[in-house]
Amino acid sequence: MTESEILIAPSILAADFGRLADEVRAVDEAGADWIHVDVMDGHFVPNITIGPAVVAAVKRSTSLPLDVHLMIENPERYIENFVDAGATTIGVHVETCPHLHRTVAQIREAGARASVTLNPGTPASAVELVLGDVDQVLVMTVNPGFGGQSFIPSMLAKIERLRGWIRDRQLPVNLEVDGGIGTKTIAGAARAGADVFVAGTAIFQTPDYAEAIAALRRAARS
Ligand code: DX5
Ligand code: ZN
Repeated sequence: MTESEILIAPSILAADFGRLADEVRAVDEAGADWIHVDVMDGHFVPNITIGPAVVAAVKRSTSLPLDVHLMIENPERYIENFVDAGATTIGVHVETCPHLHRTVAQIREAGARASVTLNPGTPASAVELVLGDVDQVLVMTVNPGFGGQSFIPSMLAKIERLRGWIRDRQLPVNLEVDGGIGTKTIAGAARAGADVFVAGTAIFQTPDYAEAIAALRRAARS
């Protein structure tokens, strides 16, 4: 990875939900590129978070693209609801999609960018055959369900492998990382080939969002 643009996507999972509109406006003004929205169903992952109504409320608070990460079983049932709510990108976990190729097509037909997501225990090969049909691959660098966990270093080899395939096939596919991203871990992920960086704790649990986002950008380029 060399000259590709670095995109920072604050995860509102770490925001103060009681002041969600203000929190979204604050990271927008602080220089965020996208807003990352974590949807959890209490089945695929142990935690429960938000649904389309809250995504619509986030949409009213910002003009930034909304990167909606569905950690839910049977995501194909809800794709249109989240697109109608304002999602720019819909991410589905490959572990929840026995008909992944069809689900990716459904996302694009609904009018969103299609992202496919890999749990830490799922190999890169799980998305190899749909790489030409997607807009983004998300490599989870923690086990999904909660913010504030530690980055799993063995995911770097998976990021490198995916970046190699994307580069060799000259595909217009973003490679996103999510989980434990901070100033100490972002450089390694960037060097491995990631270009979109989700960060919850490293932004929302600091007093100065603009400085936190700027520090992540500096560290990613270091
Ligand atoms: C975890 C979520 C992440 C989470 C990241 O399941 O997908 O988006 O918010 O939080 P941090 O940046 O605190 O690891
Ligand atoms: Zn996420």
